[in-house]
Amino acid sequence: MQNNAKIIAENKEMFYKMLLYRIESWVSAEKDVLANLCNIAALLYDNIDDINWAGFYLMKNGELVLGPFGGKAACTRIKIGKGVCGTTARDRITYVVPNVHEFEGHIACDSASNSEIVVPIIKDDVLYGVLDIDSPNFNRFDEVDKLYLEKLIEKLNKYIDWNEVAKIN
Ligand code: SME
Repeated sequence: MQNNAKIIAENKEMFYKMLLYRIESWVSAEKDVLANLCNIAALLYDNIDDINWAGFYLMKNGELVLGPFGGKAACTRIKIGKGVCGTTARDRITYVVPNVHEFEGHIACDSASNSEIVVPIIKDDVLYGVLDIDSPNFNRFDEVDKLYLEKLIEKLNKYIDWNEVAKIN
């Protein structure tokens, strides 16, 4: 049985440390990559304050394809270089977008989204996808979110064989 208790912390750093701890306990105990990503998306969606979407896009045959997520149904395919997700995949750096309406080419899957953070998933120099989190608030994400969500991907890289869910070639 997974621990589904809401993560309550006194500050954002503590929140992310508890989140990462819980994720590591899950992914170290379960080998199935898809099952792990589904639970991580659900955990993020359920626990990060003021968000309306959290999930993965995975690289498949040269484009990003929708993976496990929490939130409203979203666009299934994003070309590299398009939208915040495709731009993150192209540039291989985290994008923190305070106002998505000012981001050239932003793809509005949910019209409620006003800010967004997208972290690339890179292991051994290979890009496997991105982690995307959207918020209805402007300016929702900062350097602390960036730092810990990048740490989250580093942590996943220790346990997850992304080739099981992405198709690089
Ligand atoms: N807004 C993203 C598209 C994905 S959805 O937000 C779930 C983008 O511009 O790439």
